[in-house]
Formats: sequence, structure tokens, C-alpha cells
Amino acid sequence: MSPSILPHGGRLVDRLAVEAEADELSQRARELPRFHLTDRQRSDVELIATGALSPLEGFMGQADYLRVIREMRLASGLPWTLPITLAIGEEDIRRIREGGRLALADADGPLAVLLVQEIYEADRAIEAQEVYGTRETAHPGVRALTAQGRFLIGGPVTLFRRPVRQFGRYRLDPAESRRAFADRGWRTVVGFQTRNPVHRAHEYIQKCALEIVDGLFLHPLVGETKEDDIPAAVRLRCYEVLLQNYYPRDRAILGVFPAAMRYAGPREAVFHAIARKNYGCSHFIVGRDHAGVGRFYGPFDAHAIFQAFAPGELGITPLFFDAAFYCKACGGTATPKTCPHNGEARVELSGTQVRERLRSGEGLPPEFSRPEVAAVLQEWASRSQNPDRTRLTSAQCA
Ligand code: ADX
Repeated sequence: MSPSILPHGGRLVDRLAVEAEADELSQRARELPRFHLTDRQRSDVELIATGALSPLEGFMGQADYLRVIREMRLASGLPWTLPITLAIGEEDIRRIREGGRLALADADGPLAVLLVQEIYEADRAIEAQEVYGTRETAHPGVRALTAQGRFLIGGPVTLFRRPVRQFGRYRLDPAESRRAFADRGWRTVVGFQTRNPVHRAHEYIQKCALEIVDGLFLHPLVGETKEDDIPAAVRLRCYEVLLQNYYPRDRAILGVFPAAMRYAGPREAVFHAIARKNYGCSHFIVGRDHAGVGRFYGPFDAHAIFQAFAPGELGITPLFFDAAFYCKACGGTATPKTCPHNGEARVELSGTQVRERLRSGEGLPPEFSRPEVAAVLQEWASRSQNPDRTRLTSAQCA
């Protein structure tokens, strides 16, 4: 375990049942009322069980839920910015009682047991306003919140069967990433969250950050994203070709973050930082419009939110980056902090731009994407426009 980076709350949560205990729980789960998880809920169960959301041992009860929404803290006072809740519909609520147990299942059957400590009602309007800063259902996070059940179940979970482990060797649990950092002798590690295909601005801020720490943990999110985001398997393939060609082998590790995207902008930036601390990172990159969507957040709201916490309270150091672009006059990637030229010399770089260029067939010039990355994306784009051809599968990234 990384010597200096303590998990949030001081202890790495482990709610994974193995061997005899897993067999026993699997037997018992057959007799319990069964609840079918959405993809996002299943991601949350896995994150909780592996300790990625330490100190959470399960889905939040009401005291945590309300304080998180209103004050960005758990009931204990520890900083926490997103509610991690299990929403359930009215038809399911009749089958469940407080103090009972529930089998949580995905399409392959039960995978976890939840002890129902509390059943309470969500305040979806306040949650939307406080967490997402809007009640508009045009926001994908608010839309998901509005669509989910009115009641929430709080209680600890124990995972006895891992959901299908897509992305093979990149799926490092927090205990495993901590070990990988320690094996390389890294004392300081910067984590990088991403949901978009890697472009030159990403590479620029990753490498600027790497200049001041020992190692880089590239940690693309592979849980549920909105429909027009590029599939995780394609994004991972982009990272593979980038790492092969442009990163020193002993300085960067690629892992996947099995969380769903909430698009909660600033609040999600803090959440992402805390989770990466649990994976063993000492630093975390927050760039322009982190976890944003559309025009719901200002480009640097995700920087400002960190001021709500006293120095040291989060236990991970955010590294803030201004908007990076390619400057034709400088002949390289830069930010307003390092480049004096005007707007015309600058080529804006963003995930949205990459997606739009792929859609329109405009191509990705080298100032946007490395040629090896552009080739992966363009191949994918031509396949997805021609559904008869096989799609890039996760097996290619294993
Ligand atoms: S995110 O939803 O995961 O934030 P994305 O994968 O595009 O989306 O961004 C990953 C990280 O890179 C975030 O910290 C984001 O703020 C940062 N970022 C993306 N594009 C730029 C850019 N042009 N300049 C500076 N930071 C950027």
C-alpha cells in the first residue's frame, strides 16, 4: 500500500466476500427478495465493495444523504459531494422491510447482499438543484434523477460475485493500484479522470502534472456515459496506442474507473478526486469544465469548489489547469498562462470538438490528436457509420 496516501476516512473499505463466505452468501441470496440493479447502481456497488468510495460501506442513509446534498459532507463531517444512493420504485418497496436483506442482481443473477437499514424518501428537486445546480431535465444527471424511484434504501452491501470483468488487466481495484504504485517506488502519483478520447490538451496537462510527481495514473471512466460519448473500449484503445508511442513505460499506469458519469461538474470533480485518493493518488488533475455537460457550468467552477474545503481536508492535492489549446504561433500546446497570442492562432481542443469532427468526417489533424489515436478513432467512426462491419470490442483492449 502507498505509504503516505491514506484512504478517505483513514481505512480502505473491503466489502468483497471471497471463497466460503462468497459461496454462502450466494446460497442465501437465492432465498432473498431480489432487486435488479441499473448499470449505474451496479457500478456503485462495485465501487463501494472495492473501497473506491471509502469510507462508504454501502448506500447512504438519510443523515448522510441530506448532509451531502446541503453541505457537501457526510454526517460524520467528512467531505463528500455526491449522494450515493439506491433508488427503488413504489412497486418494489412493498417487498422490502427495514432490518431485512435484499439480493442485488444484474442480468447474470444476484451479485451482492444489502442489509436494509433505512428506507426513506428522496428530495429529488432539492437534490437536483444542489448537486447539479439546475432542475432542467436537459441535464443528463437531472434526467436520470427524475426517472429513478422516489424511495431510497440505505445500508451496507457485500459483493460476492464480481460483475463481468471487462477490460481485463486494466481493472485495478484500489488495493491493486496502491500496490502497483508502491512496486514502482512512486511516492507521489497524479490521477487523471477522463470520459473522452485522449486529445493533445489532455496529453499536455497530464505531462505538465507528471513533471512534478513520480507517476501518472491514467484512469478513464468506463461506467455508464451519455449516448453520444465515445465507447470505453475505443477510448482505451486510444490510450494503448498513445502509451506505446509517447509515454515512458515506467511513469504511467493505465487503469479503468468503473463508475458511471453523473455530469455534476464541480461536485463531481471533488468526488473524482476523493475516489482517486482511495486508489492511492496524491494529486489529481482538474482542467477546464471538468465533468461538465453543455453550458451548465462555468469553465472553472470545478476549480473554485475546492475552496469550500480547508487545506488538507480532502487529503489529495488538486492540480488546476487553465484551458489548453494548440497555438499555431507557438507551434505547440499551451494555455493563456503560457501563450501570448490571440484567438486566431489558437485551435480549441475538447472532447466535444473531437466528437463533432468524427461525426462530420472532418478528420483529426495532429494538433488535435496523435496520428495513432486519430487512426483508432477514425476506424471506429467508419465502422459505426457502417453497422455491418464488426465493432471494436473490449476483447481488443484486454
Ligand atoms: S471529463 O468529463 O472526464 O472531465 P474529459 O475526458 O474531456 O471530460 O476531461 C478530462 C480532464 O481533462 C478534465 O479534468 C478536464 O477538465 C480536462 N480537460 C479536457 N479538455 C481540456 C482542455 N482543452 N484544457 C484543459 N483541460 C482540459
